Amino acid sequence: MNKISIAIDGPAGVGKSTIAKMLAEELKYVYVDTGALYRAIAVFLSDCGISPDDLQEKRIADLIRDIRVEIRYEDGTQHVLVNGTDVTGRLRTQEISRMASVTSAIPCVREKLLDLQRELAEKYDVIMDGRDIGTVVLPQATLKLFLTASAYVRAKRRYDQLKESGILGDETLSSIQKEIEERDYQDSHREIAPLKPADDAVIVDSSDLSMEEEIRMILSHLKEKIR
Ligand code: DC
Repeated sequence: MNKISIAIDGPAGVGKSTIAKMLAEELKYVYVDTGALYRAIAVFLSDCGISPDDLQEKRIADLIRDIRVEIRYEDGTQHVLVNGTDVTGRLRTQEISRMASVTSAIPCVREKLLDLQRELAEKYDVIMDGRDIGTVVLPQATLKLFLTASAYVRAKRRYDQLKESGILGDETLSSIQKEIEERDYQDSHREIAPLKPADDAVIVDSSDLSMEEEIRMILSHLKEKIR
């Protein structure tokens, strides 16, 4: 039987994972966080002594040729294993964010993860979020969404989040906005799998939408597609 897949792409800080998780819960689909896969490879490469400032592509290709990246779900939460070791707890550090941002632009890294992502979509009804899901990974996805929000709105959400969690350091609203704008530029101008909406993607600008309004809008688009 054909599986249903919802591809969610969009820039950093737009709330893709929050929306994807809520939708997955509502629809009882499997949520696949593809950023976590790129981060897991970044952990592996970092452990191998690769520095984000000195990427040796040939060495990276050799190192990842035989690695096994797997996903497991424990209590509904995605865990990523590299060569049998669960690296989930190490994915969200600043160092790994930086490493993943540069290593995800290397072709052999993207190729390594392509089959895994497609296999998951063949096996389960999925909501998959990332940067190139609708354009490269699942061009036949049932519904393709491209989430956007202004850099200011995304920076403000991030700023409030950090403040609320009591981990706001030296960052200011404008330094966070600047960082977001730089990441957007890098993500959308890289040569391989640049961030851009698929031609048939539904663009959802959440700058002036509440989470509930956004979810309702997406569910009505899905209803049209699977009617
Ligand atoms: O969404 P995230 O911040 O967890 O993603 C981590 C890095 O991986 C980020 O720099 C963008 C990159 N990425 C990608 O290139 N393609 C994807 N499908 C998902 C993430």
